[in-house]
Amino acid sequence: MNKILITGGAGFIGSHVVREMVTKYPDTQIINIDALTYAGNLENLKDIENFNNYQFIKADITDAKQILDIFHEHKPDGVIHLAAESHVDRSITNPLDFVMTNVIGTVNLLNAAKEIWKDNYQGKRFHHVSTDEVYGTLGEEGFFTEETSYDPHSPYSASKASSDHFVRAYHDTYGLPIVITNCSNNYGPNHFPEKLIPLCIHNVLNNKPLPIYGNGKYTRDWLFVIDHAKAIDLVFHEGKNGSSYNVGGFNEWQNIDLVRELCKQMDEKLGNPVGTAEQLITYVTDRPGHDLRYAIDATKINRELGWKPSVTFEEGLSLTIDWFLNNSEWLNNVTSGDYQQYYQKQYK
Ligand code: NAD
Ligand code: TYD
Repeated sequence: MNKILITGGAGFIGSHVVREMVTKYPDTQIINIDALTYAGNLENLKDIENFNNYQFIKADITDAKQILDIFHEHKPDGVIHLAAESHVDRSITNPLDFVMTNVIGTVNLLNAAKEIWKDNYQGKRFHHVSTDEVYGTLGEEGFFTEETSYDPHSPYSASKASSDHFVRAYHDTYGLPIVITNCSNNYGPNHFPEKLIPLCIHNVLNNKPLPIYGNGKYTRDWLFVIDHAKAIDLVFHEGKNGSSYNVGGFNEWQNIDLVRELCKQMDEKLGNPVGTAEQLITYVTDRPGHDLRYAIDATKINRELGWKPSVTFEEGLSLTIDWFLNNSEWLNNVTSGDYQQYYQKQYK
């Protein structure tokens, strides 16, 4: 493909996808469109911002006209759509923001792609990046497969499920060439510190409580963000038209065990006595509608495309903590201003 438009490229996962594409495909033009909300940060892309095949456009996917104009002007052959409101706790406070960006924004992009590609779908592709949270919750056993029925519980997962349905509907109704990936929880460099892992790293560094919702026995399947970016590249280029692929780390952790592992690694790295960080663990009021367990069966993407995670969780977590320790300016920048208000309200 000559030109790929990536949405949400200034965010956590999007910035890793942009870097992967810009550096791996020097002959392909990569256009990053992002509204730069609280979660979008061009600092994430400093190392590649001057590459010849990279361009940034500030744009809001909820603005149908602006999006259509960009598509008409740049005529991308492919779209990788990551822009979203992404935090479950914020979706509980402001569900409408999630409907606007995740549902309406996605439909605006589908309409724009359909409009400029309608005469010839050959060589075109719309890749929608979604989450395992659309499947709802698992009990103690079993895994989400691509055939698992959708059963979202939070406003975030409901909005992502809705967007997935629209993407499939545009394939089935208009023949739009699409692929969808449903990935488990990501972690890694540039992760915004409202999410569990970077929040705990930030709080250990600042000697603040590590808030564990409910009894801490909730389970997530964690994947290093660069492995997710590589899976997106693979599915975008080689995935079967109309298909969806689950992406996950075969790496389940109960929240409390994960935070203990994080504390252990941080004590070692900071040269503190064993058990120092763990003393900060504090159980707090549970999240409403909290899903008990997510676990991805990533057999299909492995069998069809040969993808598998490249790092163990212990390695990935160590790389992540090192990144935060070496990028204190990044962390200070994103946690000044609005973040403080969010934090006070969420953890008062
Ligand atoms: P993020 O919140 O870090 O980044 C989202 C990006 O989208 C930001 O750069 C933000 O500025 C941009 N954005 C938000 N609203 C916009 C709008 N109206 N117009 C244009 N840009 C807008 O999110 P993330 O964690 O990087 O997630 C990226 C995608 O991956 C999302 O679609 C999310 O649902 C999905 N996903 C995330 C995870 C995870 O663990 N974080 C797991 C699976 C799937
Ligand atoms: P999070 O990082 O918000 O991702 P998601 O809700 O998309 O899975 O949360 C991961 C898990 O950690 C989830 O079970 C909620 C829990 N959690 C806490 O216990 N304390 C916190 O302060 C946060 C942000 C999350």
